[in-house]
Amino acid sequence: MKIVVTGSGGQLGSELCRQLGREAVGLDLPEFDLADRQGVLRHVANLRPDVVVNTAAYTRVDEAEGRPELARALNADGVAHLVEACRGLDCLLVQISTDYVFGGDVGRNIPYRETDATAPLSVYGHTKLAGERHAAAWTKHLIVRTSGLYGRAGQRGSGNFVQTILRLARAGQRLEVVDDQHCTPSYAPHVARAIRFLIETSARGTYHVVDAGETTWHGFAAEILRQTGLAAELVAISTARRGGAPRPRFSVLDTAAYHALPGAPPAVLWQASLGEYLSGEPATSDAVGVDPSMEP
Ligand SMILES: NC(=O)c1ccc[n+]([C@@H]2O[C@H](COP(=O)([O-])OP(=O)(O)OC[C@H]3O[C@@H](n4cnc5c(N)ncnc54)[C@H](OP(=O)(O)O)[C@@H]3O)[C@@H](O)[C@H]2O)c1
Repeated sequence: MKIVVTGSGGQLGSELCRQLGREAVGLDLPEFDLADRQGVLRHVANLRPDVVVNTAAYTRVDEAEGRPELARALNADGVAHLVEACRGLDCLLVQISTDYVFGGDVGRNIPYRETDATAPLSVYGHTKLAGERHAAAWTKHLIVRTSGLYGRAGQRGSGNFVQTILRLARAGQRLEVVDDQHCTPSYAPHVARAIRFLIETSARGTYHVVDAGETTWHGFAAEILRQTGLAAELVAISTARRGGAPRPRFSVLDTAAYHALPGAPPAVLWQASLGEYLSGEPATSDAVGVDPSMEP
C-alpha cells in the first residue's frame, strides 16, 4: 500500500511515517501546502496513493480565535481539497480530528461516543468539525478523533505539554496549570498504531482513539513531576484565569467502538503511556520557545 501522510513533520504525522516505513510518503510545508488547492491536487495525483492520512492542521487553538480565516483555510478547506483529490483517485481519506468538536453541552461528564451530537466552543473546534463534514461527504472516509496528543517530535517551535512542564520545572519556575478541563492525554505512537490498525482492517466512518483513563492538565502535570521526581511548585488554576480560546470542561472520548474491533491493540492507561514516553525521552532542555497557545 502507498499511504500519503500530510503534516509529516508533526507529532502524529512523523510517528505515522516512522511506523509505516516504506509504505509512507510524507508531505509537509514548505513543499506541500494544504491550503493550496492546485498544489494538493497535483501532489496527490502524482503520487497515486491508496490512502491519504491528513494529520496537517492549524493547531494553534488560541491564535485561531483571532485568525479564523487561516484556521478555516487549513482545517476545513484543506480537507475539501483532499476530498477532491481522493475522489479523483478513488482512494481512502483518513481525517484526523479532535475532542474539541465537543464541549458545548456544559455539565456533561460522560465520555463522548462517535454518534453524540457535536458542539464546538472554539474557532479551532468549529473548523475541525467543518473538516470532518467535508471528509464525510466522500464515501471512502475514516475520521479518527483523538485528544491531548504528545509525541517524540513535539510541536515544531514549541514543544509538547510534557516537554513544557519538564522545561519549566527544571528552570525552577512555578507551574500554573488548569484543573477544570477533563480529557485523556494520548501518546502519539499509540494513536498512530490505532490508525494503522483501522486502515489495515478497512474500517470506515468515525472512531475515537485515545489512551485509557482521564485527567485534567493539572493532573497530567502532577503525574509528569511524580514520574520524573522533579520538585516544582504546581498550582491549579481555572480556565477562566488562564484565558485564551474557550475549551471543553469535559471532552473525554469513549473508545468502546474502536476496542470492540477484533484484533484492536489493547488500551493503555495514560499514566503508563507517559512512563513509556519518559523512558525514551531525551533531555528536554532543548525544548525551546514554548508556545502555550498550541493545542492543548
Ligand atoms: N495536538 C493535540 O493535542 C491534538 C489533539 C486532538 C487532535 N489533534 C489533531 O491531530 C492532528 C495532528 O496533530 P499534531 O499534534 O501532530 O499537530 P502538529 O504537531 O502541529 O503537526 C501538524 C503538522 O502540519 C503541518 N502544517 C501546518 N500547516 C500546514 C499546511 N498549510 N500545509 C501542510 N502542512 C501544514 C505542521 O507544520 P508546521 O509545524 O511547520 O506548522 C506540522 O508539521 C491534527 O489534525 C490535530 O487537529 C491534535
